[in-house]
Amino acid sequence: QAVHVIGAPLDLGAGCRGCRMGPDAIRCAGLLTRLRQQGRMVQDLGDVTLTEREKLSADSAGGHPKAKYIDEIVRFNRRLHRKTAASVEAGAIPLILGGDHSIAAGTIAGAARHKRIGVLWFDAHGDLNTVQTSPSGNVHGMPLAAMLGYGYPALKHIGGKRPKVRPEHLVLIGTRSLDTGEQELIQRAGIRMYASRELHRLGMSEVVRQALAAAGEGTDGIHVSFDLDGLDPGEAPGVGTPVSAGMRLTEALEAMRVIAASGLLVSAEFVEVNPALDLRSKTAHAAVELICSLLGSDTMEEKSR
Ligand code: ARG
Ligand code: MN
Ligand code: MN
Ligand code: MN
Repeated sequence: QAVHVIGAPLDLGAGCRGCRMGPDAIRCAGLLTRLRQQGRMVQDLGDVTLTEREKLSADSAGGHPKAKYIDEIVRFNRRLHRKTAASVEAGAIPLILGGDHSIAAGTIAGAARHKRIGVLWFDAHGDLNTVQTSPSGNVHGMPLAAMLGYGYPALKHIGGKRPKVRPEHLVLIGTRSLDTGEQELIQRAGIRMYASRELHRLGMSEVVRQALAAAGEGTDGIHVSFDLDGLDPGEAPGVGTPVSAGMRLTEALEAMRVIAASGLLVSAEFVEVNPALDLRSKTAHAAVELICSLLGSDTMEEKSR
């Protein structure tokens, strides 16, 4: 199965600029060469266009006071959703390079267009805020709520009005920073979450096995959404919202291998790499390692089936 690389250079959803350079930083860290060395067929479809209007500087007005730049973010995500859906339809695995995490509103809607999908959400955060609960007004803290059917209408309705993921098919991994409204939504919707405590108690492979069982039950496959701030800031310093005591890279690589071996992967995204904050491209290189473990090679996948 071929991999389609799609760049999503959007950073209006984040509190600081810079992760629009994420896709190129990950490419420059050797992504395509490495995947090809592993025997993967890879095609780079280039970047989703960021229009001039979408490049507005941090202090320009735009959108909604509690959801900054929401109009531009929605327009960008509509394009990303079409590109992702087309790639799944073509029988490929779309691999989306962010960009801030608000791009998940486009990628998940795109993957969910022709398939029922479960989602594994690796992140320090829940990104389960709505316009009402967000403390920051930054839309990268909202995409997952939108995919469950909550929040700003234009964002949650990209690719159709139905929710894109059911709560029982969603698993949060590595979570360690949640706002009050997010905690309430997790309780109310009964969302499965493995925070650091559970990760240490069960170990990463067991956590991912349980997560795949839940997210894979009654779905056609899995979307992996990996926010690099899920890793410890010591190993992934190039992120806009670092949170201490994160996953070790070795643990996260283990998670990627377990997912690869399951053969359930439909689509994946790696987000929030901000080259302007990175140290010697450490975070971009971590993303490449994670992607290579997740995508392995076709032959590996065949053997494990
Ligand atoms: N929960 C905080 C907020 O809503 C932080 C969100 C960080 N999200 C991210 N994708 N890095 O603003
Ligand atoms: Mn996130
Ligand atoms: Mn995060
Ligand atoms: Mn740990």
